[in-house]
Amino acid sequence: MEIKIKDAYELDYKSDCLILPFFEPADMELCADIDAKTGGLIQKVITSGEFKAKEGQCVVLYVSGASFDRLLLVGLGKKQDVTAEKLRRAGSKAFVRARELKAEILTVSVRALNETEKSIGAFSPSYYFTEGALLGLYRYIKYKKVDEDEKEIKEAVLLSNEKDFPVQWLTVNTIASTFARDLVNSPSKDMTPTSLADVAKSLAGKNLKVKILEQKDSEKEGMWSYLAVAKGSDEPPKFIVLEYTGAGKSVPLAIVGKAITFDSGGLSLKPADSMEDMKQDMAGGAATLAIFKAVSSLKLPINLIGILPATENMPGGHAIRPGDVVTAITGKTIEILNTDAEGRLALVDAIGYVIKHYKPEAVIDMATLTGACSIALGNEAVAMMGNDDKIMAEIKDASDETFERVWQMPLFEEFKEYLKSEVADIKNIGGRTGGLITAAYFIKEFVGETPWVHLDIASTAFLAKPKPYFVKGATAVGVRLLLELIRRRIAKKS
Ligand code: BES
Ligand code: MN
Ligand code: ZN
Repeated sequence: MEIKIKDAYELDYKSDCLILPFFEPADMELCADIDAKTGGLIQKVITSGEFKAKEGQCVVLYVSGASFDRLLLVGLGKKQDVTAEKLRRAGSKAFVRARELKAEILTVSVRALNETEKSIGAFSPSYYFTEGALLGLYRYIKYKKVDEDEKEIKEAVLLSNEKDFPVQWLTVNTIASTFARDLVNSPSKDMTPTSLADVAKSLAGKNLKVKILEQKDSEKEGMWSYLAVAKGSDEPPKFIVLEYTGAGKSVPLAIVGKAITFDSGGLSLKPADSMEDMKQDMAGGAATLAIFKAVSSLKLPINLIGILPATENMPGGHAIRPGDVVTAITGKTIEILNTDAEGRLALVDAIGYVIKHYKPEAVIDMATLTGACSIALGNEAVAMMGNDDKIMAEIKDASDETFERVWQMPLFEEFKEYLKSEVADIKNIGGRTGGLITAAYFIKEFVGETPWVHLDIASTAFLAKPKPYFVKGATAVGVRLLLELIRRRIAKKS
């Protein structure tokens, strides 16, 4: 869907449907002229009490006498309670309803949105309304037979005189989210480490170099922890490295994304129902690729390194066994007691690699790392842990803006004990309690002094039940979050 901003009068602009937002309680104050021209139906649904403008309430009116024949009234809730998130949700509701009406060209009246009194974020109310719409309209239909009835909305025209509406930022963000969601929703058969590497290569350009380390290369680097995960699979591992240069010689920020294209658990095989959605286990990697896609298309002035240690985690005759010991790139030895705790094995080599070769200013990793994440936080927040309060505060600020909420968990020294191995420097599982934290603590033990933040996105990357503006499946969590972090960093500098 294309977004346009036009300083035009609602009654003149030709469309299939005009979306008309209202604050609660709905009244005629802002729309008397529109109602007068379209037959007085707005007045009727308001006086009858049918339309109160409660959050997300939608009413469709078929009208005559205007340049459109449908009016979609949408409620925003009470003006004093409005937030960016409520506007996203209302935007999504309205646009999904409009799609059901088979509207292809939509207009949006921003009269009520412009009445928002307080500042609700870095952007304007109409931005959030449209953002919700764009995210909410996503669906994954690649493998479905084409349904002629399922028309996509082609164009949404915001009837606004906002001169500085960031159309490009919004569009690039949405394209990046859609891109990540498509990758994550793809069945693992069609999203192998090799396909993921091909996708990464397709992003390469003038400022973005993409390098793939084959198994032999990873062996030379001594990444035996990452390679241990790959041993049971017939799919070759691909260690994907992205270098984006938009700010000359400045020290880069590194993003590492877990990229297990399917997690069966390996020999510590998962039960069937836990395995069902494990195509999602590359969501951190997909988010990382999406961020690079956005950053390079906007040519942002920043230096970024991205790493995706891509592999499958499968059982097989060559698979790593519980009790085996491997050495990571840092030289630390790991006793692998559970082959299903594979994400951390891949991540510590990826983080070790990026620190060794790029000396980044900081490393942020995104990973669908633990089932324990959803035990702690449900599907409502990303778990955040790290060794640097400053970047964690930065991420928290960005997350308040994008509503990809993060919640910090503690990395108490006492957790070190949980990971003590009898035979190696560390073991890869920490026991039943504190599983969300011990996974992060394991990574911390390989990071050293480099500022580092770990984002466990296991419970937010892929939804079994829809949420406001998210259908079931992939959410692309982390994409808007880190793009916002980058946007803030750049805005601060200039
Ligand atoms: N990929 C899973 C974590 C996961 C679970 C992501 C559910 C998304 C939804 C991870 O590799 C895993 O299997 N973790 C184990 C660790 C355990 C063996 C210590 C887990 O959480 O059960
Ligand atoms: Mn696993
Ligand atoms: Zn996993």
